[in-house]
Amino acid sequence: MTSPTRREFIGGAFALMTAESMRLPLWARAVPNAASTPSAGQILLGVDYYPDQTPEALWEEDSRMMSDMGFTNVRIAEFAWGLMEPSEGKFEFGWLHRAVEILHKHNIGVILGTPSAAPPPWLSAKYPDIFEVNAQGQRLRPGGRRFTCPSNPVYRKLSLAIAAQMAKKFTDNTGVIGWQIDNELTLGSSLRCYCNFCQAGFQNWLRTRYSTLDTLNQSWGTVFWSQTYTDFSQIPVPLLSGGDPNPGLALDYDRYQSYANVSFTEEQLTMLRQMCPTHFVTTNNVGLPLDTIDLRSLFAKLDFAAIDNYPGFFDMLMAQQGKPPSYDGIATGISLGHDFARSVKGGEPFMIMEEQSGKAGQSTFAPQPETGQVRLWTYQGVAHGAMGINYFRWDTATFGAEEYWHGILNHDRSKSPAYEEIRQTVKELKALGQEVLYSQYAAQSALVFDYDCSWAVKIQPGHYALDYMTQVTSWYGAISASRTGIDVIAPEADLSPYKIVFAPLAYVMSEKQAAKIKSFVQGGGMFVTNFRLGVKTVSSQIVRTPLPGLLRDVMGVTVADYIPIYSAKNAVKFAPALAGPDGECGLWTDILQPTGAEVLASYTKGSHAGEAAITINTLGSGKAVYIGADLDAASLARVLRTLSGLAGIKQPLEVPPGVEVTMRRAGDKQWIFLLNHTAVSQSVSIPKTFTDLLTGKTHTGKIDVSGYGVHVLT
Ligand code: GLA
Ligand code: ZN
Repeated sequence: MTSPTRREFIGGAFALMTAESMRLPLWARAVPNAASTPSAGQILLGVDYYPDQTPEALWEEDSRMMSDMGFTNVRIAEFAWGLMEPSEGKFEFGWLHRAVEILHKHNIGVILGTPSAAPPPWLSAKYPDIFEVNAQGQRLRPGGRRFTCPSNPVYRKLSLAIAAQMAKKFTDNTGVIGWQIDNELTLGSSLRCYCNFCQAGFQNWLRTRYSTLDTLNQSWGTVFWSQTYTDFSQIPVPLLSGGDPNPGLALDYDRYQSYANVSFTEEQLTMLRQMCPTHFVTTNNVGLPLDTIDLRSLFAKLDFAAIDNYPGFFDMLMAQQGKPPSYDGIATGISLGHDFARSVKGGEPFMIMEEQSGKAGQSTFAPQPETGQVRLWTYQGVAHGAMGINYFRWDTATFGAEEYWHGILNHDRSKSPAYEEIRQTVKELKALGQEVLYSQYAAQSALVFDYDCSWAVKIQPGHYALDYMTQVTSWYGAISASRTGIDVIAPEADLSPYKIVFAPLAYVMSEKQAAKIKSFVQGGGMFVTNFRLGVKTVSSQIVRTPLPGLLRDVMGVTVADYIPIYSAKNAVKFAPALAGPDGECGLWTDILQPTGAEVLASYTKGSHAGEAAITINTLGSGKAVYIGADLDAASLARVLRTLSGLAGIKQPLEVPPGVEVTMRRAGDKQWIFLLNHTAVSQSVSIPKTFTDLLTGKTHTGKIDVSGYGVHVLT
């Protein structure tokens, strides 16, 4: 296994977002009985600020300008360990107190970042054991950031100590409103650590998980290649070893690494809860459901989810991969991130802790956002459930690794192209107020994102091009084009709120999950899945029953054979219910033998020509659909949209390609967000008279949404 860099990793997630499957998400509908509005929270419209990198003489001017922008808060200090603890145990918070005081004087609340993402040189020099070991067995070096091990007890102790000193000094400071623990956990150049401390941590974690070695040996099937362990201390980490690792061990290692980062965070959280009971606590991560760390566990005990959003970064990566420019693709990818962020804590409003405000870049620049795009991206977040936004960053660094990452002030402190736009957006969002920002978003469709499946498929893809995240993003693009709201849920989530649940590449299937799916379908829901269904147990062993294992009766089929596709391509012919041109098959074909299901498409080539490729089964009052073939993007989009229609998902507003529609609601109030991701004006027909809350104008018959324009309708 190799560990991709952060760039490759995030870029890979967009790799197969094809033009067809990436049409924009847009939907709006009324859902009775939506969850009640949470108690209104504080307005968080701010900026990420670096007083540690700014001459003190400028702090007053910065604070005044921020206040003039309408900002309510900043996030500071998350990379300032060296200034706060210049040598071990010697703490210097004078500068931070002065910064907080000046900001507070200008009515700007402070979110303090704990600094464990970047330890200072004295610490690295004294404790070289803290450095992460990557998948090639190489020890990382200091000089960048995020080069430390999440299991290392010394690093944990020192990280907790500096955070506790901060907490002690600032708990009673009225300028401080909350905390961000660390910064983007796991998103460094190596996504996993394989050091001796992690090995020991893994062994302990396994002791708790399995209790006995017998159970562990059985679960992993260690008799294969003579790997039966007779002591927990013999258990290795999955580093290069002359052959692929045991799949059960490798999957557990991914679970352990995610756990190690979560427990690292929770150590600081426990302390902050005790010492700063009146402050909120969160951390920030990317919104996309990448499988570096289980964000559901990470945010479980935190007050709200917070994500970082850089659309231009994705634009740059897609161009780098030779993909055609696609505002639609980027807009849909970002929507997926927002829908996941909202779903991470069961639909609670989330915060965007870093929102792109200018040209993004580390060693190269992403494009300058077009006029209107920063405002549009802000509203896209709010449209999908964000309650607060911090722009990244206030000024633009003239030194350090992120000199190219443009903020609200340029290098010479002149105003950036988006300066006035951001000021206007903040003013508008304040006028919309708490009720809108903290309103709910209730979806009728759900897309399952299962970390176990992502990790297990990465360990044994079955086909070199098969990737869980790619399947999930392609399906999201296809479904969202059907203009429906989508939650991105855990496999064990309650399925009852949804009319239709999509679960691509559900390779690992637990008994609990299978039972939930069965009762969802019996109760009238539609469950849609595809090839490699139910192949593995939660221990990553292959099931001993015919496929699709635990879901055979639900799907009403048996998999007669499964065939990876390389040069011998296949194709499918659709039955009238899914009418359309023959579809092409890409990576995979499961050959389906109905045992009660109806055939919706058949293969046309090879020795399985005429056999079932897509089936639909009726169980109780619901339906279960098995898509055995890896369909081309256009066919997949048509099939998934047709199924959404059959499940009763309706489009209350017709909008042209490039325009996105979402709706949030509180009690019997609702707000429709219309977002134009294209540069040209688009006309949208409306069935009744709406008032635009941003302009106060009423609209009847149609609305012309200007290029990158936004309307909030009620
Ligand atoms: C991330 C980090 C920030 C900064 C920005 C821009 O999202 O959280 O510290 O590095 O990217 O690179
Ligand atoms: Zn480690």
